Amino acid sequence: MRQLLQIRGLRKQYGKHMAVDGVDLNVNRGEIVVIMGPSGCGKSTMIRCINRLTEPDAGEILLDGKSILNLDDQALREFRRTVGFVFQQFNLIARLSVLDNVMFHLVMAGIPRVQAEARARNALARVGLAGSEHKNPGSLSGGEQQRVGIARALASNPQLMLWDEPTASLDPILIGEVLDVMEELVQTTNTTSIIVTHEVGFALKVADRIILMDKGKIVEEGSPKAIFADPKSEVGRKYRRLIAS
Ligand SMILES: Nc1ncnc2c1ncn2[C@@H]1O[C@H](COP(=O)(O)OP(=O)(O)OP(=O)(O)O)[C@@H](O)[C@H]1O
Ligand SMILES: [Mg+2]
Repeated sequence: MRQLLQIRGLRKQYGKHMAVDGVDLNVNRGEIVVIMGPSGCGKSTMIRCINRLTEPDAGEILLDGKSILNLDDQALREFRRTVGFVFQQFNLIARLSVLDNVMFHLVMAGIPRVQAEARARNALARVGLAGSEHKNPGSLSGGEQQRVGIARALASNPQLMLWDEPTASLDPILIGEVLDVMEELVQTTNTTSIIVTHEVGFALKVADRIILMDKGKIVEEGSPKAIFADPKSEVGRKYRRLIAS
């Protein structure tokens, strides 16, 4: 099947506020989808629903044609292993070494330590952190910490990677180093990625498709060229003005 992910009529409400208000989205295998839109429009809520960090109120999410919304605990744990998530705030465990942070969920998943360690070392090398295995996360720069976060997501060989504003907590000098690693990874692996970011230049270079959201809904989608050359939505026109300035 060409489509890896199918989302139908997804809704999530907080109190009276519709954070995600009827989203339909299909993502093909190997596709790089970038999601953009103003703060509060529901981007995080949407991608967090995809690995059940947030429970949707309504709708359907199919991965590989199978619903991910009615899984028992064991099946949910197995499913989560196939989806990598990169958080804005890194979410590293301060008392564990870099290597242990990357290995931790592999070991928890029952992978023998020797294998888990080999996979973790390999993932760290892919994000340019070979040699930092025994450091403490607190001794690393923000950019390096986020690369550990990326290695942790990669180490489980996910079929889908979800990235929630991975550079938004970094200062401008460090943003570039993380975007370079992301660009290299998404272009050299065939992992499907959904990336929430405000980095327009990165989106232009890397995205197969850009999705624009506003007020909980998808308001426009298309190739980066089409979206930024001739935007149809108000949000799209705002991004175009950003590029022009
Ligand atoms: N746990 C929560 N409890 C209550 N309201 C929430 C919760 N999470 C999100 N919201 C609200 O839902 C809406 C969508 O939030 P969300 O975090 O998905 O937006 P976003 O597009 O990711 O924004 P940003 O670009 O600032 O990260 C916002 O109005 C937010 O305040
Ligand atoms: Mg967000």
